[in-house]
Amino acid sequence: MEFDARKSGPKDVPPQEERGISFKDLKEILREPSSTNVGGPAKSKGTEAAAADSTEVLYRQAIIEREQVIRDLLEGKQPSLETLIRIVTDFVEALSISSHLLVVSFSYSKDLFYPLFKSVNHAILAVKLGMGFEKYEKNDLIKLGVACLLSDVGIWKVPRELILKTGRLSPSEQAEVRRHSTYSGEMLKILPTGHQWLQTVAEQSHERENGSGYPRGLRGDEIHEFAKIIGLVESYEAITHYRPYRPEGLRTPDAALKELINSHESEGFSGEMVKILVRQLSVFPPGSWVRLNTGEIGQVLESNSFAPLRPKVEVWIDASQTRLKNPKVIDLDNGLLVYITGCINPAALPKEK
Ligand SMILES: [Fe+2]
Repeated sequence: MEFDARKSGPKDVPPQEERGISFKDLKEILREPSSTNVGGPAKSKGTEAAAADSTEVLYRQAIIEREQVIRDLLEGKQPSLETLIRIVTDFVEALSISSHLLVVSFSYSKDLFYPLFKSVNHAILAVKLGMGFEKYEKNDLIKLGVACLLSDVGIWKVPRELILKTGRLSPSEQAEVRRHSTYSGEMLKILPTGHQWLQTVAEQSHERENGSGYPRGLRGDEIHEFAKIIGLVESYEAITHYRPYRPEGLRTPDAALKELINSHESEGFSGEMVKILVRQLSVFPPGSWVRLNTGEIGQVLESNSFAPLRPKVEVWIDASQTRLKNPKVIDLDNGLLVYITGCINPAALPKEK
């Protein structure tokens, strides 16, 4: 059965499988922490790994709790904004201590249904980006994160076969996928008085500074600032994560930043926001897999704003390309002999022997 959201009202909610959320997806999310690291070795419980595990629990919990919010919206019920506020407050607090949450947001298996976690990734990235805006206080970051968690809810009204289709979409299929921001706006009409701005942000998250966006082709100041931020992080997240419509695979985080720097004008992103994103994520963003001059391979744990080329790295693969049972953490700022020679795509990591 194809779900035509335009004809369906709140009473006409299709079975869960057809809306996109499947039991398998949720079961996958509920697996033990640290077991779905893309391409990465299973983690043993060192100090860093234990810290990452608690962040991973936070991330998984956010996906599960947000799924209930989507479910409520699809059924025409008032969603729990309190839940979303709590999720984002936890994100803001976690990100003000370390970048583990960003690392976790890069660690998800391509086998998962990506709409389940992409908006959670947007919220993490947007909060991290928003922390680079001097004018944003904690409450602004929370509002921004909540807007992220709600902005793409309309994607659940797009037929799952279009979301999962590999290869190029036909013009009519593309038009249907693009309707998701309008669907989001329709779904969010139910929010209580005083929250209409969330509907506006959702409807505008694919509008672009230069008028090249959709659905209305708005420009510059006509677009809510949060919608511009969401548009930018959504684009970065899509480039750096698996998508079925892009058979060539994902870009490494550093390549994605370079792409945004080079294309931001034609893509209609604010140059100022791209600059802040680069500053906040650094050259090698947390979560990137990097090769060291020693031949070892590791994942960036924490960037270093004073020395962007010298982050803290968790080494998982030694110089003989053997996976380590216990990773070792190297702070590249503590010595100049070891340095990063480049990012590597997680799909190209050496397989377990
Ligand atoms: Fe979107």
